[in-house]
Amino acid sequence: MNTEVPPTLNMIGCGKAGRTLGQLWHRAGVFNIGGVLTRSIESASAAVGQLGAGTPLRSLSELKSAELTLIATPDQEIKDIATSLASSGVLDRDSIVFHLSGALDSSLLRQAGLEQVKVASVHPLRSFADPNLSAAEFAGTWCGFEGDSEAEHSLYSAFEKIGAHMFRIEPDRKLVYHAASVMVSNYLNALIESGINAFQLAGIDRQSASAMIVPIVRNTCENIINSDPGSALTGPIMRGDWQIVKRELENLRELDPNLGDVYKILGKATLSLAESNSLLNAEQVSKLGKVLS
Ligand SMILES: NC(=O)c1ccc[n+]([C@@H]2O[C@H](COP(=O)([O-])OP(=O)(O)OC[C@H]3O[C@@H](n4cnc5c(N)ncnc54)[C@H](OP(=O)(O)O)[C@@H]3O)[C@@H](O)[C@H]2O)c1
Repeated sequence: MNTEVPPTLNMIGCGKAGRTLGQLWHRAGVFNIGGVLTRSIESASAAVGQLGAGTPLRSLSELKSAELTLIATPDQEIKDIATSLASSGVLDRDSIVFHLSGALDSSLLRQAGLEQVKVASVHPLRSFADPNLSAAEFAGTWCGFEGDSEAEHSLYSAFEKIGAHMFRIEPDRKLVYHAASVMVSNYLNALIESGINAFQLAGIDRQSASAMIVPIVRNTCENIINSDPGSALTGPIMRGDWQIVKRELENLRELDPNLGDVYKILGKATLSLAESNSLLNAEQVSKLGKVLS
């Protein structure tokens, strides 16, 4: 029987990401959830209800000492909260304070005055929409760590116990790392919405367009996952059919200039992909390059 007492985790901010991780850690016995502070006692109580653990707090002054503190607020709040934490008197030299931002690194916490404690950031490369669903699907999520080496062991262990694959990110590369995450996740939403809008311009109602795209999106993603974006490429650019690309771009621009821009910009990226995979001859590259310039 494991009689080890789990370390206590205080949570400041407990929305989509916090509620997902908090309930997983609680269920797995990784952490004893301590104080939970949000913007109101009502939302803190709701968060505690969803986690099944913790004590809702009204203010930072009610926080009791804990081995770890997670700041799971929106990114723009992290620095001010870290400043308040630094003067709260609840932290000691062994305390670990970490946040979940993909764009910001942990030096932000030091700059805010957390100089005597261990600081880190761990970014789960996942979109958390519904905490219960995200908790059920969390295993296998890649999580990028950067921060103090003294915090590394505890945080790797805490995330690995709930199924994460941990990796290290260089702090000065976090912005470009996060831009990459935005492209493969959020921009995919925007791209698919653009496609649905273009289907509507073709006279297909939104509901039908939304249903029609399901097999093609799934199939394209599976092909990419099973090989790589270049090998899985199909369509007029990959075939070097610059006449069709030209006419499609003109047509789209006429009906909706913004959709024309999306088609053109991603057409250029698609051309680079086809070119780097040696799928086109020099003439096709040159003709397509002119059409998409
Ligand atoms: N959502 C994702 O897909 C995702 C993925 C990876 C990383 N992250 C990172 O996770 C962090 C949290 O994002 P999220 O999506 O979970 O945000 P969220 O759902 O908006 O939740 C934010 C939480 O912070 C609380 N909060 C806001 N301002 C506060 C303040 N001044 N003091 C105390 N609590 C405050 C909110 O309180 P109320 O409950 O009262 O509103 C809420 O509980 C961010 O750093 C984000 O970059 C998010």
